[in-house]
Amino acid sequence: MTTLGILGGGQLGRMLAMAAARLGIDCHIYCPDAGSPAARVSAAATVAGYHDEGALSLFAEAVDAVTTEFENVPAATARFLAARVPVHPSAEALEIAQDRVAEKSFLNGIGIETAPWRSVDTLDDLNAALDEIGPRGILKTRRLGYDGKGQVRLEGPEDATEAFAAMAGAPAVLEGFAAFEREISVIAARGTDGAVRCYEPGENRHSEGILRTTTVPAQIDAATRNAALAMAERIVSALDYVGVIGVEMFVMEGGALLVNEIAPRVHNTGHWTLEGCAVSQFEQHVRAVCGLPLGDPARHSDAVMENLIGNDIDTVPALLAEPGAALHLYGKGDARPGRKMGHVTRLRARVG
Ligand SMILES: Nc1ncnc2c1ncn2[C@@H]1O[C@H](COP(=O)(O)OP(=O)(O)O)[C@@H](O)[C@H]1O
Ligand SMILES: [Mg+2]
Repeated sequence: MTTLGILGGGQLGRMLAMAAARLGIDCHIYCPDAGSPAARVSAAATVAGYHDEGALSLFAEAVDAVTTEFENVPAATARFLAARVPVHPSAEALEIAQDRVAEKSFLNGIGIETAPWRSVDTLDDLNAALDEIGPRGILKTRRLGYDGKGQVRLEGPEDATEAFAAMAGAPAVLEGFAAFEREISVIAARGTDGAVRCYEPGENRHSEGILRTTTVPAQIDAATRNAALAMAERIVSALDYVGVIGVEMFVMEGGALLVNEIAPRVHNTGHWTLEGCAVSQFEQHVRAVCGLPLGDPARHSDAVMENLIGNDIDTVPALLAEPGAALHLYGKGDARPGRKMGHVTRLRARVG
């Protein structure tokens, strides 16, 4: 019997644990919060901090492999565990994805384009960066941003002082505003044997920095699709990555692709694979990090995944009554504004 340890206790861990169960694998959740969504569907749970070496040692002894469902697990935690048990993704991959400057430097270093960017530690840095990369941009904290948090849009140099103040002293990065035609993502998986499998790119709509819907397939031509898949493959190979990764991209006019960010874990834009494919992103990740062969990522259906955010939870009675709606609720108590409470996927006959 295999036991997979998962660092983090949110909905991604919950869906990983359910996929693992289908393969006869037990999960042990390690997370600082008691009663987490993932712990409530898992065989075992440890409630302790990510720097608690005593608890981490016991956790390492109790599991056969470790993964993460949360990209801000301290790299030191992954490193501590990796001396005791296989850990994927690696501390190095986490470190790159946790810092927007390291991430963009890595991407540019392997020949992948991003929006133009500059590191910003002072107001002078910001003014110089605005001069160099144009008046419109987005200032983002280097670390710990998610769902659009830690970001401020600038329409011109007059917004600099206020935007800089909003970073509250945190190191930041200015990105040029990408006037994209659409946003897509590639969910890619790489196994311990180096095999890479990618799911069909999905097209993503955000509002207020939060993902609302993913539609599969994305409305892109074959050349753009193939370029997107090749980029994802280049990224996972360069990272010597094991597991599932989400690669967010902007499609520019004419089809050029910029990578926005990489997420070293299963990804919200891959939730449609639960219904759309024989092997979901969650099962694929479990297979990869447990050293099993990867599964077939082909989709049997097209799909639209819609997030249920905050008060959207009030539509659950209607969704329960809707034929064909595949509803997932994460078991979170309080429907705070902006909080991801669940999602619903609707399949369509596959076209193309
Ligand atoms: N440089 C940019 N140009 C235009 N839109 C952007 C840019 N950066 C981010 N966005 C928009 O904001 C969303 C969230 O930004 P992202 O960097 O992915 O942060 P998070 O870590 O919160 O997901 C993106 O999906 C995109 O819609
Ligand atoms: Mg993002």
